[in-house]
Amino acid sequence: MRFQYAADLPITSARAKILDMVRRHPVVVLVGETGSGKTTQVPQYLAQELLGAAGSSGRPPVIGVTQPRRVAAITVAKRVAQECGVELGQEVGYAVRFDDQTSTKTIIKYMTDGILLREILTDTTLSKYAYIVLDEAHERTLHGDVLFGLLKQLRQRRPTLKVIVMSATLDAESFSRFWDNAPMGYVAGRQFPVTVFYTVEPQLDYVDAAITTVLQLHLQEGPLQGDMLVFLTGQEEIDDAKKILEERSRRLSATAMKLKVVPLYAALPPDKQMLAFAPAPPGCRKVILSTNIAETSVTINGIRYVIDTGMVKAREYNPNTGLDALRAVPVSRAQARQRAGRAGREAAGKCFRLYTEDSFDTFAQHTTPEIQRVNLSSVVLHLKHLEVHDILQFPFMDPPSKDALVQSLETLLALGAVDADLRITPLGTAMALFPLDPMHAKALINSFLPPFRCGRAMAVIIAMLSVENVFFTPKSEQETADAKRRIFASPYGDQLTLLNVYKAYQKAKKRRGQKEWAQEHYINLRSMASVDDVLGQLLELEPAARAIMQKDAGAGAAAANPTALAGVELDSEDLQVRKCLTSACFLNAAVWSPGDRCYRTAVGRNTVHVHPGSVLFQSQKPNCVIYNSVVHTTQRFMRFVLEVEERWVLEYGRYVYRAPDSQPKKKRPATTAEGSSFLGGVKRARGEAPP
Ligand code: CDP
Ligand code: MG
Repeated sequence: MRFQYAADLPITSARAKILDMVRRHPVVVLVGETGSGKTTQVPQYLAQELLGAAGSSGRPPVIGVTQPRRVAAITVAKRVAQECGVELGQEVGYAVRFDDQTSTKTIIKYMTDGILLREILTDTTLSKYAYIVLDEAHERTLHGDVLFGLLKQLRQRRPTLKVIVMSATLDAESFSRFWDNAPMGYVAGRQFPVTVFYTVEPQLDYVDAAITTVLQLHLQEGPLQGDMLVFLTGQEEIDDAKKILEERSRRLSATAMKLKVVPLYAALPPDKQMLAFAPAPPGCRKVILSTNIAETSVTINGIRYVIDTGMVKAREYNPNTGLDALRAVPVSRAQARQRAGRAGREAAGKCFRLYTEDSFDTFAQHTTPEIQRVNLSSVVLHLKHLEVHDILQFPFMDPPSKDALVQSLETLLALGAVDADLRITPLGTAMALFPLDPMHAKALINSFLPPFRCGRAMAVIIAMLSVENVFFTPKSEQETADAKRRIFASPYGDQLTLLNVYKAYQKAKKRRGQKEWAQEHYINLRSMASVDDVLGQLLELEPAARAIMQKDAGAGAAAANPTALAGVELDSEDLQVRKCLTSACFLNAAVWSPGDRCYRTAVGRNTVHVHPGSVLFQSQKPNCVIYNSVVHTTQRFMRFVLEVEERWVLEYGRYVYRAPDSQPKKKRPATTAEGSSFLGGVKRARGEAPP
């Protein structure tokens, strides 16, 4: 492995100091501005250190580097493999859920923090690793925080394991405190001044405001003054904005410089993601429309303008409603500063905030750690599996509320994953084998047990649900696409529709016509290939889960699978699947309320609606449905909805629904800021220091 330093990175001059700190201390906190070279360089320094010490005998230990995002793990691994002059997957590799590009030769392994969490299940001391680098620690993701606690405990059993915590310059002292006052090293960044502008008026539609601002700037600012980075919240929004921008920029005068619009979000196929890093073609200005991936996780060269909508999509669990929903929320001030800083990496830049200075002052100072916002049942199951019995005593950096922990234990109890003493059951152990939400894991396990036995159907559905954007729908061809795909629609709903899509795909594959089939039906073929991949991995885990369940064929399995609804020799596959999904997802049930023409969730009686993307959106509303998730935009929408029978819900969920909760919950006040129409001109603000 050859090392080739990107010599002009700010971190280069700190190399000796960093290595010295790592040699002398078991845990080191490295703080540095985004783009200074932490993620790409530090693992290479450590690799040199290891290779220098190891000699040639035996397999060298591994440097594990965790990332909160798949995109970052993949793109950074590619970059570092390139810098080291090795083939990706050999000495330098990555592992993300359902995609492992490493080999026995791998020394530097980039991975999502979820992957490392799973590795601790099978190798409780992480024996193959010499260093664990916890990167992007400031993101405070759920998995990241759990890893913090686990590694802190693990280091007591294996003191030789070295931990390096790396963070952008956000609240870094708290990491040092958590790690028993570990020493902190600073990497000075290279930061040019960024002038920040606010809108004079609040914006009603931040997407529209972003598009207008891009075009306005593009025309105003001289040619070749640099690329633009726009922060939006998610895939749909980005795809829509891209269409509109492309359309409008085509109408610009022929003499204007061309605009190249590039999306960047997690669900994008890796080759498309790489386009964001490629320089714009000559005579062209690049506009990157990104989620908060580009905030700190990845660095794109050439950016001189940042347009910040001030919004970010966040998963939020509301213990009052019991709903875990994805919704766009305002960023924190720390995030807004970080975003602005992206404009000043190579020269002085400008940041346009599409909100008023007054609203900036209302933003929270720091982002609340995810662990304090989301449903914890998956994490708690994981900890139970790791024999962390007293969850309330676990060393969380910022402990979640006791209520949230108790609620997640209740969910696991309802699913049969823990028993009344809150000990993990065999079913819970089998569930923990799968890198899935506990409900999906249970549905999968039930699917290969009597009385359900729906063969591969459930695995297919779960694989389809775990892959994003199976359907691709160009805005202009929406109607054709919908019409073409109508043949897959199941009258029962989306999960069975996904199953139909997969079956058709299989048929097309058999006659080697999948490419044409995908094109004709507006299906993303690459996503289907990932489905196959995921399916393979789920089926690979099945024997182990089956073995656990068989060993426990007595009490545990019977309790988990009430047989009252069995006797199903004649049931069709559709019926089996619907029952099986209900047996695991009964907490995600909703019942039609004819009076107010909406659904009410079975737990909490919250108002929810069928998502416009669902096959049940237009149809007559079934009395009872289960849903896969809830997104909160203008209203709460259920995504992936399936008709089931209320009596199944009551039967499978009898521990929960024994005493129906009839208390009406208070409605939450709307929090969206109201405002008048677009940009009355941008207001120049005091030159705020970037981070
Ligand atoms: O981790 P940190 O934010 O400190 O920086 P990094 O991700 O290691 O990036 C260091 C430099 O490498 C960036 O400033 C980029 O110029 C470059 N880089 C790149 O060009 N392409 C990538 N995929 C990753 C990094
Ligand atoms: Mg980094």
